[in-house]
Amino acid sequence: MSMQTAPIGKKVTVRTIREMKGVEPITMITAYDALFAGIFDAEVEMILVGDSLSMSFFAEPDTLSATMEQMLYHTKAVCKGAKRSLVVFDMPFGSYTHPQQALENAVRVYRETCAEAIKIEGGREKAETVRVLSENGIAVLAHIGLMPQSVRAEGGYRVQGKTTDEAIRLLEDAKILEEAGAFGLLLEGMKSEVAAKITEAVSIPTIGIGAGKGTDGQVLVWSDMFGFFEAFKPKFVKRYLDGADLIRQGLRQYREEVKSRAFPDEEHSY
Ligand code: KIV
Repeated sequence: MSMQTAPIGKKVTVRTIREMKGVEPITMITAYDALFAGIFDAEVEMILVGDSLSMSFFAEPDTLSATMEQMLYHTKAVCKGAKRSLVVFDMPFGSYTHPQQALENAVRVYRETCAEAIKIEGGREKAETVRVLSENGIAVLAHIGLMPQSVRAEGGYRVQGKTTDEAIRLLEDAKILEEAGAFGLLLEGMKSEVAAKITEAVSIPTIGIGAGKGTDGQVLVWSDMFGFFEAFKPKFVKRYLDGADLIRQGLRQYREEVKSRAFPDEEHSY
């Protein structure tokens, strides 16, 4: 397998991501500020400024409180750190209820930030919105399967594609969204077999989260995968670091050294 599609140092574009399908798995992670975007930038192809920031960093119970203003503010910060990776702006709940509103908000995203694509949640019911955005020069990553912005209407989070009817509907939605012009699909919280079937059936890349290994790429929320978000851990999250523990260790050492007057020492004083 070639690993040359998105070499370090070369700007990743929507075209790069499309070309990676079937060639090399795509890596995506969330970021909400310049500091972490700067660290992630050289390591992954895509950075999602996700509305998950409401839960991870504002301690909200779900993502529905995120606003356009908040998402624009965080995306501007991410853009300061992300020079190589493709930045994707997650359209917040209520910002794309009809195609014209979606277009006006997406134009704002392109005008005010460096984001090169936007993400919206929804299946066939959002096909017209995807079409209007695509026809007006906006790259759309369409998010289907478990859609966190529908949590209140659905009465919770539920793995999708468990019945044949659900699986068929997801597959149809994927094809409809591809036909409407989406450049990629984000598949969240669905049976692995269904995500793999969708990936085979469409010619655009699929990025999975809780959708198994059969997708063209993976995305995780950074505070989940590095163990900073401790409130709960969904099954699909693999913790690559015990971030909160590392911080606590460092903090305890700092506290002890301040209390014992070991810090600051000569080396850290003028
Ligand atoms: O907001 C977000 O971080 C997301 C991911 C869960 C894909 O949409």
